[in-house]
Amino acid sequence: MAEAKRDPVSSLSALPAWQELANHYTQIKDLHMRDLFNSEPARFDNFSIHFNDILLDYSKNRITEETLQLLFKLARESNLADWTQRLFSGEHINNTENRAVLHTALRNRSNKPVMVDGKDVMPEINQVLKQMARFSESVRSGEFRGYSGKRITDIVNIGIGGSDLGPYMVTSALQSYWQDGLRAHFVSNVDGTDISETLDAIDPETSLFIIASKTFTTKETMANAHTSREWFLQQGNASAEDVKHHFVAVSTNAQAVADFGIDTDNMFGFWDWVGGRYSLWSAIGLSIALCIGMRGFEELLQGAHEMDIHFATADWSENIPVILGLIGILYRNFFNASNHAILPYDHYLRLLPLYLQQADMESNGKRITRSGKLVDYKTGPIIWGAPGTNGQHAFFQLIHQGTELIPADFILPVHTHNPVGRHHSVLAANCLAQTEALMRGQTLEEAMQALKQQGMDDDAAEQLHYHKEFPGNQPTNTLLIGQLTPRTLGSLIAMYEHKIFVQGIIWRVNSFDQWGVELGKQLADVIESEFDSPGPCTGHDSSTNGLVDYCKRLL
Ligand code: F6P
Repeated sequence: MAEAKRDPVSSLSALPAWQELANHYTQIKDLHMRDLFNSEPARFDNFSIHFNDILLDYSKNRITEETLQLLFKLARESNLADWTQRLFSGEHINNTENRAVLHTALRNRSNKPVMVDGKDVMPEINQVLKQMARFSESVRSGEFRGYSGKRITDIVNIGIGGSDLGPYMVTSALQSYWQDGLRAHFVSNVDGTDISETLDAIDPETSLFIIASKTFTTKETMANAHTSREWFLQQGNASAEDVKHHFVAVSTNAQAVADFGIDTDNMFGFWDWVGGRYSLWSAIGLSIALCIGMRGFEELLQGAHEMDIHFATADWSENIPVILGLIGILYRNFFNASNHAILPYDHYLRLLPLYLQQADMESNGKRITRSGKLVDYKTGPIIWGAPGTNGQHAFFQLIHQGTELIPADFILPVHTHNPVGRHHSVLAANCLAQTEALMRGQTLEEAMQALKQQGMDDDAAEQLHYHKEFPGNQPTNTLLIGQLTPRTLGSLIAMYEHKIFVQGIIWRVNSFDQWGVELGKQLADVIESEFDSPGPCTGHDSSTNGLVDYCKRLL
């Protein structure tokens, strides 16, 4: 197929700062961080930022002071300050959907008015927060009961994408704050196994379903919601009247909620200016409030609000999201690194990589600029990761000795919620040791020396030492958090949201739409109907036709 005739956008790569960074890259690409640390004893002090309970050490990056200054210049030439102001002030910066982008208003604990299209949205936000508080407290206290009079013991959030990953990640991260006797389940996949496994584990008399969907049209969520309601009516021997004791909705679509049969009194609203992947701060976070209480949820909002203020006001040299975003640009566009790993050294944060995959890749996985031009540079990286120390025994080999440059964020709470013997010291030591090893590496000489010290003979050592060389110079950021609390978690998530925003601004993409998810959904609808139609499938390429027919024969 011929490529659409569109001029590639040249404005970014033609910027003076971009050109200077390209030149600067040729000077720094062979610098080794070992040498940078040796020649700069204060490197840790120079390249670390303390914000509340979070320390960012970004000294183990392949940067010099000049690199940073050039990156700041690029941010200036990209009008980052102006865009930041536009983000916070409710302008319609989501231009392809003509919407404001105001997840920051949801956690605006200062309560200063936030205007969208001439209207202050804070009263509506506060009203929904009050509704969440009333409801979550009545469930938690046992005042709200199921149709047979029993207390609610199981909360089932049914949603997908942003209506799942945010609350799922946060509730699991804050499990040590959960109320005793309450359990949370998250069902997202349209694969019937997901809902079946959950329904098998719960009792209709004591379960509360939250149908979380901004649009209330998402196929997966609607399928799971309908299956749950049928199960509830049958399994619980319940009536349609009983549904209101067990089903609530979080949505912007009151009509569809009513059509589904949920009393709109049991609906928690939000607004089109809240993007799905930025929605955990809205009523989409109801499952969080139910599990940890509204006070805890407000602490989460508070932490995010503090990060918002930091991002909006701190000088760029002291600004964590700006620094992380710009360093990411350096690797993606100049070092040509296509991946970025998220490595939380905290079991509670094990879902963070999954959550950030959507936050980052759905936001910046774009090749068309805001003004509709094709980019001629790389945009969003591939985000992945796993909790430490598990990753060390799986994919770290490739980071240490493979052929890809994989910048990584190491995240470690200094205090654990579960002090068991020496476990936390071992965990923390591994986290810090990995960043040291990735930075320093091990030279051939060091490898040889180590083998000889172990008593290996010369020939064997000569054979083996090539395999024991570590090039090092692998960049990492280390984020130390005092302890994982609702507040620090709120700050951490908001930090990543703003880092993504910074990168989207530099890349000139709209980080707040997601047109790329549409085509597959449309084609799935077509194929689904073809499963039920007689005769061979002919409407697609031979591969798709063949696969549909093969499935039909076995169905
Ligand atoms: O398919 C992508 C997407 O639109 C996400 O952006 C969103 O978080 C998810 O689907 C769920 O959408 P909804 O909340 O409307 O069900």
